[in-house]
Amino acid sequence: ETETVVELIAKREVLPLYKPRQKYSHKGNFGHVLIIGGSYGKIGATNLASRAALSSGAGLVSAYVPKCGYHSLQTAIPEIMVVTDENETNISSINFEIEPTVIGIGIGMGTSDSTAKTFESFLKSNKTPLVIDADALNLLSKKKTLLQLLPDLTILTPHPKELERLIGKWSDDFEKLKKAKDFSKKYNVIVVIKGSNTITVYHDKLYVNTTGNPGMATGGTGDVLTGVISGMLAQGYEPLTATIFGVYLHGKSADIALEDYGYQSLIASHIIENMGDAYMDLF
Ligand code: APR
Ligand code: MG
Repeated sequence: ETETVVELIAKREVLPLYKPRQKYSHKGNFGHVLIIGGSYGKIGATNLASRAALSSGAGLVSAYVPKCGYHSLQTAIPEIMVVTDENETNISSINFEIEPTVIGIGIGMGTSDSTAKTFESFLKSNKTPLVIDADALNLLSKKKTLLQLLPDLTILTPHPKELERLIGKWSDDFEKLKKAKDFSKKYNVIVVIKGSNTITVYHDKLYVNTTGNPGMATGGTGDVLTGVISGMLAQGYEPLTATIFGVYLHGKSADIALEDYGYQSLIASHIIENMGDAYMDLF
């Protein structure tokens, strides 16, 4: 077995990763993120992820949601395009004409039978790089053979419960990391273990993030992370770089928001709003 490498990720580590924007760049240079998710009462998750993808720098963002999400998204976010499923309340036939560079899938999606079925056939034909979160992770946990269908370097962003469903229970942090590393190697994927010190796992490498705060313990902050990492990937950052950089910026933005809102009042939208300051803090 090769040796585990642990790296702390702070400003000094992410600054060299930053790609400056060229004067003559256009939106086509920064990719097209498609956020797939949402269900009746959980369209807000796709709102957050779509806005987060925009704020991290994606050139174009679209959302694929059940019909019930159409008006709220079109009204709330004029910058995005909205494509709807044939079903009213949950995704049941993933079908779109656009050609996204990156797909972020799973947030607020639910795990009903029809959603599970279309998710499986989506994976069977999909060739687009993926960021997988929330209910898409839960569907993978329910049917582990689907993990083999993930493109190399797919990024998975489980919170502790989602991680447990995916890799099984652990008795201590050491065993948790061992299981996450084995999982990453087996499927050649990147696992983001979300928490107070988010750890990105890729094979035997562990990247421990140093930004973020307990103000982030509030609904929707994970949906924002899905959008941020998708946006970084769309802009052309390599998957591991997009993940490490995205996790750093997400936490940094929350740290900046904390100064205005404090632990109690910080909400997921504030993390989106402060992404610009998180970038600018690098310099
Ligand atoms: N310190 C620092 N960061 C934290 C802390 C903390 N104490 N607590 C949470 N965070 C960060 C995590 O690292 C992660 O980036 O906030 C984010 C929380 O993500 P999720 O747990 O996915 O939360 P949420 O966005 O509310 O999830 C929405 O989707 O995953 C499902 O079951 C979940 O219903 C929930 C929904
Ligand atoms: Mg979540």
